[in-house]
Amino acid sequence: MLPTPYTKFDYDKVYEPSEDSFLLLDCLESELKFLDEKLKGKLSVVCEIGPGSGIVTTFMIQNSIPSLNSSIYLAVDINPWALESTIDTAARNNCKGRYLDTIQCNLTDSLKANEVDLLVFNPPYVPAEEVPQIPESKGEIDNWLDLALLGGKDGMVITNKVLENLDSILSSNGVAYILFCARNKPEVITAEMKKTGNWKIELVETRKAGWEVLSVYRFERQH
Ligand SMILES: C[S@@+](CC[C@H](N)C(=O)[O-])C[C@H]1O[C@@H](n2cnc3c(N)ncnc32)[C@H](O)[C@@H]1O
Repeated sequence: MLPTPYTKFDYDKVYEPSEDSFLLLDCLESELKFLDEKLKGKLSVVCEIGPGSGIVTTFMIQNSIPSLNSSIYLAVDINPWALESTIDTAARNNCKGRYLDTIQCNLTDSLKANEVDLLVFNPPYVPAEEVPQIPESKGEIDNWLDLALLGGKDGMVITNKVLENLDSILSSNGVAYILFCARNKPEVITAEMKKTGNWKIELVETRKAGWEVLSVYRFERQH
């Protein structure tokens, strides 16, 4: 079993690692062999959207995921506190400076197209009337935290933006792991995407967390 990074930050400012975070870690651990096979021999660009505390990105760095090859890790979050926490978590786990860059941006807006070999996203997936407005200042702490949780209609507004752009985010051999809750209706969404004939999608992990059922799906291009 791979070690879980130690995190210590103000969880009024960033999302505290929870069942969904740990499910993602378990999913990445169970995918080690698959990722080694898929991305072997390549310097990979790894991007986590919404690193929050930084636990998932640090887990990937400290355990050399996707493979023993060098990788570049990009952690992109709309919440400025998440960037601070990600750097802090990396440092606490001796991963600082290991090809990690943190970028404040909306989803992958500031990345070049088709450069990401491994994309990881635990999105704001809780159904809500709407996605909260992006706060104007770093000090609006409650609002940053709302953005970590609330995903608008069906909890899918933010995730849909990523799914709609997946073709221009991933490299030609890229792979994405995205987390859903049952209320996001992931089986309906993935069935629709499969119908296009462009995507190979697999359910990798699923787990009951309180009254919520969480799952992580793997997305690859259908070659
Ligand atoms: C559920 S939290 C996941 C945090 C962490 N990855 C984990 O698993 O513990 C969702 C994260 O997505 C970020 N986020 C929400 N909307 C975003 C957007 N439009 N662009 C980038 N990041 C966003 C939030 O700030 C938050 O850090």
